[in-house]
Amino acid sequence: MTEKIQFFLPGPSYVTEAARQAMTKPMVGHRSGPFKSFRLSLGERLPKVLRTAGDGMIATGSSTLIMESAVISCAASEVLNLVNGAFSDRWHSITRSVGRPADKIAFPWGEAVDPDVVRTALRRKKYDAVTVVHNETSTGAMSPIAEIARAIREESDALVLVDSVSSLGGARIETDEWGLDVVLGGTQKALALPPGLVVFAMSERAGERAAKIPHRGFYTDLLRYRDKHRDGGPITTPAIPQFYALDRQLDRILAEGMEARWGRHALLERRTEEWAAARGFSYASAADARSLTVSCLRPPAGVEAPGLVKKLAERGYTVGGGYGDWKPSTFRIGHMGEVRMSDLDGLLSVIDGAIDGVL
Ligand SMILES: Cc1ncc(COP(=O)(O)O)c(C=O)c1O
Repeated sequence: MTEKIQFFLPGPSYVTEAARQAMTKPMVGHRSGPFKSFRLSLGERLPKVLRTAGDGMIATGSSTLIMESAVISCAASEVLNLVNGAFSDRWHSITRSVGRPADKIAFPWGEAVDPDVVRTALRRKKYDAVTVVHNETSTGAMSPIAEIARAIREESDALVLVDSVSSLGGARIETDEWGLDVVLGGTQKALALPPGLVVFAMSERAGERAAKIPHRGFYTDLLRYRDKHRDGGPITTPAIPQFYALDRQLDRILAEGMEARWGRHALLERRTEEWAAARGFSYASAADARSLTVSCLRPPAGVEAPGLVKKLAERGYTVGGGYGDWKPSTFRIGHMGEVRMSDLDGLLSVIDGAIDGVL
């Protein structure tokens, strides 16, 4: 790829020229034979990214759609929401808004979810499902999903619902091996696609549980997605241009290889950490919870985070501002998707220049 990336938002991330071009292809009937074969070919490749022998499904909508659908379809009653940032808290809001009794365990922002705390909670009370966010984009904290899922499975028969919105394609997530029941990934993050689609997997056990829940809605019914998917069809008119981009990008992702892609993201994270330490930036996330796809940083004394974001924009570089209460004190570098080391180095040297001017 010859394109130089100067766009480091933690979503939407940079989309290659090839993926953007793919979206300009002519429309096709979404109930036509060609679209059915096209969808089936996506369905053959997507499970490799979702790391499942089951279905790799696609919904038209943003990631929040499948967060809500997972709760509606999989939990008849009590849900435990593990909250360590803005997006895990969104899952708590969703659970309450659809009328499911919800308990929240709040971990400090910037810290990972602690599997031992989850274990203790599950010994005290029975839940239908537990929600957790793999990579809290708001704080740059990544949680140990394998250990959390093990704790949930050992202590209960609650379903494990995982938001992998900003980690899928950038950090290891093993749907089948770790026993995850629903895993959903955003396309506009580490998969480096335009917003508009959600990709997800659902376990057999979650499907069986959903079948016993009477009112799952229409657009929010995971069984409807699954059954239509198996038949090569979407549940409603899909975002066809985004599907074309997904087709193009799946080839790119699988050509790189999942292990290599995770490895590249890990190197980008390490480089950011080394640079931050050398330049007096501190991480807002705990040392044992560093996200591989987004670094949430506090600038050195005398440098205002929002001012720095603005200065970088003036130089043609986009980074994310802080989120929620952390808006005034932090900024976020999304080193995800198609970002290469040379792109990141370009950004870091521009930050160096901006800081030297500011200080
Ligand atoms: C971890 C996480 N979960 C959920 C969402 C919500 O995604 P969407 O805006 O695509 O619904 C985001 C968006 O940034 C996110 O980062």
